[in-house]
Amino acid sequence: MTQVKKIAVLTSGGDSQGMNAAVRAVVRSGLYYGLEVYGIQRGYQGLLNNDIFAMDIRSVGDIIQRGGTILQSARCLDFKTLEGQQKGAQILRDRGIDGLVVIGGDGSYQGAEKLSRLGIKTMGLPGTIDNDISFTDYTIGFDTAVNVVVEAVNKLRDTMSSHERSSVVEVMGRHCGDIALHAGLASGAETILVPEVPYDLNEVADRMKANFDHGKRHSIVIVAEGVGKGEDVATALKERYPSIDPRVTVLGHIQRGGSPTPFDRNLASRLGDFAVRKLIEGESNKGCGVLKGELVLTDIEQVVNTKKPFNMELYELASRLSQ
Ligand code: ADP
Ligand code: F6P
Repeated sequence: MTQVKKIAVLTSGGDSQGMNAAVRAVVRSGLYYGLEVYGIQRGYQGLLNNDIFAMDIRSVGDIIQRGGTILQSARCLDFKTLEGQQKGAQILRDRGIDGLVVIGGDGSYQGAEKLSRLGIKTMGLPGTIDNDISFTDYTIGFDTAVNVVVEAVNKLRDTMSSHERSSVVEVMGRHCGDIALHAGLASGAETILVPEVPYDLNEVADRMKANFDHGKRHSIVIVAEGVGKGEDVATALKERYPSIDPRVTVLGHIQRGGSPTPFDRNLASRLGDFAVRKLIEGESNKGCGVLKGELVLTDIEQVVNTKKPFNMELYELASRLSQ
């Protein structure tokens, strides 16, 4: 088994808060263990463009607290083709880079898996606000995104109470309801609509009406984008009861920005260091995660082919507490 000597790191797909902390950890751990470390700008697009540069201790100074990613991110269609993947692997080989840490979501993991088939040792780090990567309890950026949503809902609640109104808040998550679930529970939302759980908007409207009739002064409905548009949910509620006239807030990309929480920074730091140590030990084609607090490695193929289980216990708890 040949030991890795030169590794590279890239960030890919939708960015997430904490990606910088992960890059910092990969670079500093790599250097600590005597490796040469390279950064690849703009994800797989940068790889195909040979946009690769040496990184040192100072290149990752003053970034642990920053959102976004200093390596920038991109979506690259060419890399989905075999020719693109072969070109990428060849560029890495030509530079003597034998290990690659990919920080990104599901799609980025699939790219890493393809590269590993072409002889590059790869490690995936779960970098996405969506928390939709399996074999890790949390993805890097999820906690910060949940904090952004909770802060927004706190503010909405103030004005909704004053006017005895309801509010529909559309949140991100792609096909996953975790941002809606965790932010909804933490903000005491009255209703949480997620793609994983069937719902009936007439029932939601009936409950809201009954709550207002019984003295409730506000009602927050969190809608995961995987369910549909917040605007459509608001229209359906109003059609049933014209007195329910929700204001709609789409939080959008605000959820992807801002300084990462300490939780995300520490998760990113642990996972980045873990990925480097595992590459050195000869592992490849693995996704890194944290399950019940413990660092774990899982075959990337298994990660991308397994749907993350939805936490029904939390969902039911949120329902019980939202009377
Ligand atoms: P995310 O990583 O956040 O899920 P994307 O799905 O957009 O984001 O994937 C990011 C990039 O990963 C894509 O632009 C593409 O370059 C690469 N990628 C996605 N799917 C594949 C695939 N099946 N094979 C190879 N590369 C892929
Ligand atoms: O995967 C992260 C994410 O922010 C999703 O929550 C959302 O559906 C998507 O990316 C938005 O993509 P874009 O940044 O291309 O608008």
